[in-house]
Amino acid sequence: MSKKRIFSGIQPSGNLTIGNYLGALKRFPELQDEYECIYCVVDLHTLTVRQDPVALRERSYALLALYMACGLDPEKTTLFLQSHVSGHAELAWILNCYTYMGELSRMTQFKDKSQKHADNINAGLFTYPVLMAADILLYQTDVVPIGQDQKQHLEIARDIAIRFNKLYGDTFVVPEAYIAKQGAKIMSLQEPDKKMSKSDTNVNNFVLLIEERDAIIKKFKRAVTDSGSEVRFDPDEKPGISNLLSIYAATRGITIDEAQAEFAGSRYGDFKIAVGTAVADMLAPIQARYKEILADKSYLDRVLHANAERASAIAEVTYRDVRRKVGFIV
Ligand code: TRP
Repeated sequence: MSKKRIFSGIQPSGNLTIGNYLGALKRFPELQDEYECIYCVVDLHTLTVRQDPVALRERSYALLALYMACGLDPEKTTLFLQSHVSGHAELAWILNCYTYMGELSRMTQFKDKSQKHADNINAGLFTYPVLMAADILLYQTDVVPIGQDQKQHLEIARDIAIRFNKLYGDTFVVPEAYIAKQGAKIMSLQEPDKKMSKSDTNVNNFVLLIEERDAIIKKFKRAVTDSGSEVRFDPDEKPGISNLLSIYAATRGITIDEAQAEFAGSRYGDFKIAVGTAVADMLAPIQARYKEILADKSYLDRVLHANAERASAIAEVTYRDVRRKVGFIV
């Protein structure tokens, strides 16, 4: 039986946190054996918000290098840039003509983003979900791993696929959302009642995958703890300590009970240093690979080129079928 196909679009931002890693990325290498994985760095989508060109290019390379450093194998997984495969923008145009203004105006992300960027409510922001639908449908995707915030976008992609299939006969696989097996949920180091986020204004709330060892340990030393002095897992009474135990357990690949047992009788200060050290140790080999890969742009360019060709070959089959069905001469 052939493997099911996963497609995911990733915004090019190199600032992934240990929350992203322990919650999802860490499992990507096993996923690529179970599924046929296609990961697309969605540079076209980023233009809906103003970008600095030099920084965008650098971030695209950085994301690619980081994914590879975390164990994604570009021979197994198709890891490519959206702008390298022209079918995304082309199919999006066609699908625009099968999507209604009313549907798009109901998108909560459009409403949020147009509030946030009131000086730049461009048409791309409005049709963002159509481009995302094109991304997914071009590859006859079975499953799309998404978080809560992208559910509405996946729903509209499904609606567009169903609508098109009704009009022209089976053309697109109607994709399902993939609700990932819950990885560790990592909370903020200073405010453990909210999720760790790279866009947090307080940099002490998060730890980035590419942060230096000393900075990592310092952030853990500063992490908030709770009253009392016992290292015990109790998210209601001890949210800070419990978060640190979760991080430690996920980092070492052990259970929370095992982590708790290891620190029975430890002082908060020693416990925090141990967690920071474990995280820094886990990240050290990833960071070393990351630096090595990122330093070799010509290698990255070769990977991008080969992967874009692989992606194009798949996309072209769908796009040709669409062109024929709508009445273009192919
Ligand atoms: N909109 C997604 C996000 O912001 C990124 C994305 C673009 C995507 N195209 C996609 C996700 C296709 C899944 C499938 O996270």
